[in-house]
Amino acid sequence: MRVTITEIKEMKQRKEKIPMLTAYDYVTAKMVDEAGVPLILVGDSLGMVMLGYESTIPVTMEEMIHHTKAVVRGAKKALIIGDMPFMTYHISVSDALHNAARFIQEGGAQAVKLEGGESVAEKVRRLVDCGIPVMGHIGLTPQYIHQLGGFKIQGKVAEEAKKLLGDARILEEAGAFAIVLECTPAPLSKLITQKLAIPTIGIGAGPDCDGQVQVISDLLGLYTEFVPRHAKQYARLAGDIKTAVSSYISEVKSLSFPTMEHSYTMDESLIDVIASEAKQSKCR
Ligand code: KIV
Repeated sequence: MRVTITEIKEMKQRKEKIPMLTAYDYVTAKMVDEAGVPLILVGDSLGMVMLGYESTIPVTMEEMIHHTKAVVRGAKKALIIGDMPFMTYHISVSDALHNAARFIQEGGAQAVKLEGGESVAEKVRRLVDCGIPVMGHIGLTPQYIHQLGGFKIQGKVAEEAKKLLGDARILEEAGAFAIVLECTPAPLSKLITQKLAIPTIGIGAGPDCDGQVQVISDLLGLYTEFVPRHAKQYARLAGDIKTAVSSYISEVKSLSFPTMEHSYTMDESLIDVIASEAKQSKCR
């Protein structure tokens, strides 16, 4: 049985911290799931860490659905959340419903995430009314990067902080089952977490959120072009992969790979038969 949104909400009530990770492909999703992570986000961060775009803005629905399907095939237990890409839920409620439904019907996800507070509340309400669980996302919302003027901490001044608290309350009231707080000052994240009945999931939001989310490529040390201050590298796989590939190159060049240990054999007596048959067919 997959984890449900009810179980996620109960974790907050039990004061049990909620670990969440992103995943974008079958193999990684399987490992993350088997390790016991209850929430997997197919984040639009895949645009940067998997597809090499400069931001999340170019990510399309087709790309998200393709990766969501792979994650769903890999992870059998975790609740899977599809991240709605830029401008796929802003134009109209019907657009938001149509695109969110694709994540659930085609992608196989159990929930969607969208960025924004009050401005997206009406869409959140309608999605929830239609049976699509929604995770909110406020603070540093990368799809608003041009409007925000860069990757900056949000809610450092009183006006911004009040707006974020208001947005969080509005999302809860609209029916969101949890809210990501990205790059908000730790005391503000703590206050929002205390004021809400639904869980907050922080990234760069301090230790007092109900859960934490990290981008898997940061956690594994795979994406090294930019490592945010809030990321912790539990492994350094980029270095390990480069070392493995260099060893392979030098072993192929020096003939130390493959050895007979990595090769397949056949009965030596057949070699003569094959050679003579080949000779005969050439003569014919
Ligand atoms: O796209 C993503 O990976 C996210 C997380 C950072 C929350 O939105």
